[in-house]
Amino acid sequence: MKKDILQALQTVSPIQLEEHMLERPANSKLGDFALPCFPFAKVLRKSPALIAEEIAASINHPLIRKAEAVNGYVNLFMNREVIANSLLQSILQQSMAFGSSNEGNGGVVTIDLSSPNIAKPFSMGHLRSTVIGNSIALLLEKNGFKPVKINYIGDWGTQFGKLLTAYRKWGNEEDVRQAPIETLLKLYIRFHEEAEADPSLNAEGRAAFKALEDGDSDALALWNWFKTESLKEFQRIYELLGVTFDSYNGEAYYNDKMDPVVEELEEKGLLVESDGAMVVELGEGMPPSLIKKSDGATLYATRDLAAAIDRKKTYDFVKSLYVVGNEQSLHFTQLKQVLGKMGYDWANDIQHVPFGLILQGGKKMSTRKGKIVLLEKVLQEAIELAQKNIKEKNPTLANQAEVAEAVGVGAILFSDLKQHRKHDIEFNLEAMLQVEGETGPYVQYANARAHSILRKAGGLNSFDVNEVNDHEWETIKLLEQFPQVVKRASDDLDPSIIAKYAIDLAQAFNSFYGNVQVLADPANLPYRTALIKSFTIVLTESLRLLGMKAPEEM
Ligand code: ARG
Repeated sequence: MKKDILQALQTVSPIQLEEHMLERPANSKLGDFALPCFPFAKVLRKSPALIAEEIAASINHPLIRKAEAVNGYVNLFMNREVIANSLLQSILQQSMAFGSSNEGNGGVVTIDLSSPNIAKPFSMGHLRSTVIGNSIALLLEKNGFKPVKINYIGDWGTQFGKLLTAYRKWGNEEDVRQAPIETLLKLYIRFHEEAEADPSLNAEGRAAFKALEDGDSDALALWNWFKTESLKEFQRIYELLGVTFDSYNGEAYYNDKMDPVVEELEEKGLLVESDGAMVVELGEGMPPSLIKKSDGATLYATRDLAAAIDRKKTYDFVKSLYVVGNEQSLHFTQLKQVLGKMGYDWANDIQHVPFGLILQGGKKMSTRKGKIVLLEKVLQEAIELAQKNIKEKNPTLANQAEVAEAVGVGAILFSDLKQHRKHDIEFNLEAMLQVEGETGPYVQYANARAHSILRKAGGLNSFDVNEVNDHEWETIKLLEQFPQVVKRASDDLDPSIIAKYAIDLAQAFNSFYGNVQVLADPANLPYRTALIKSFTIVLTESLRLLGMKAPEEM
């Protein structure tokens, strides 16, 4: 709509217009669009008021009902009925496909997301990576890209030598089976404590990792078992969140793929020795990238290098994203620079998508010593609280368990995604579950209300829009913007744009719902049913893009 209006204005404007010049007034009494004419006064040597009057007098377009010149502005009022008619028709016809585009043209975008470390708790940081990465994948898909979600499991590194050593000394099978991650974490912590008194343990740990790297079958079997048990725990979380992956190739997968990369670095003359270790030196002010330790062990950076090259070969991506916390920024800058030095022009297509911390009472939620916040417990607690709310407010509801899960999990997702990912966010379960305010349940509840009217209204019929009142118009204007909103969120890799939009849309609908007696006005019922149905389509699709469900009753 904005583009059409801009074109119409251009035909009568004495000056070249740009999209940003056309404003949407906050107060809709001042029109749906406004063009301030002050910037043109100097060039045209006329007063803004006169310019505005001339434009207002000559503009003529079927979508514009009225143009007014007020204090140097051209205020434009849309032909609401015409717009509503064609918009609602097209939403109902396209249904969930409304707002999709083929901009990505099928280009593959790999998304490195979630990527927890085995034998360690799934942290709040991994939660953020999972939900932000998943939403970005859904947004890209909606815009015609082909996302490939890669869960780059942290299953390799010297810490596994320590863990093997600790398990052999102090561990037992039964405990690991009972509570894998808790038990393995305790063993790992104990290793560090005992190694302080007896440093020879460290050498044992290193030897155990070496055995693992060399393919020792006992070490591999144990490590594999730790991995299977850990993944089982992670899987329960992914099921609750409704997230799936296209690949679980983690760090260990690259164990035998690093030598060729190290050789390539050497051939290209990029590898230099530094204190016995091998590094790639980078530009001014950048610490070198550590490729091989003095004992020959490879590092996190080496594995990411091998993985990046492998992803390009396997998927031929147009973009390769890494949804990983702010604190790893340096690592990804180095990765990109090393790839650039190796002569890969696609290094430019690598992008770190960083995010902030989750705080509780202003402090980082910690997974260290005793203070483990087990994410699965947090999710369960959210579901239980949602369940309790349902029992109080809607005790006869069917599928209570299903709805409680959609609301409880949705509340956590929404409170994360509604803020820009770079911000630190405060974790407060009770606040997230409020039905008032900018929460997941608030948005879901607006949708459920709409479905309840639709059930009573008895189905869609052909409709004519005779008159659009102010409450309806606010909702219609927002529905009309959905395709642009989706595009912006996908371009900026920013799910918060969708979350904020969902809040605005739910608020507009609630004000319509509170002010218009839909069922008591049979003449307008077909049109309003179409409007409400369109609202549920777009809201449900918005929530889907955030990875959330939209129950029809709650
Ligand atoms: N496993 C790492 C961690 O928990 C995150 C891995 C991120 N992805 C990557 N390709 N480095 O910190």
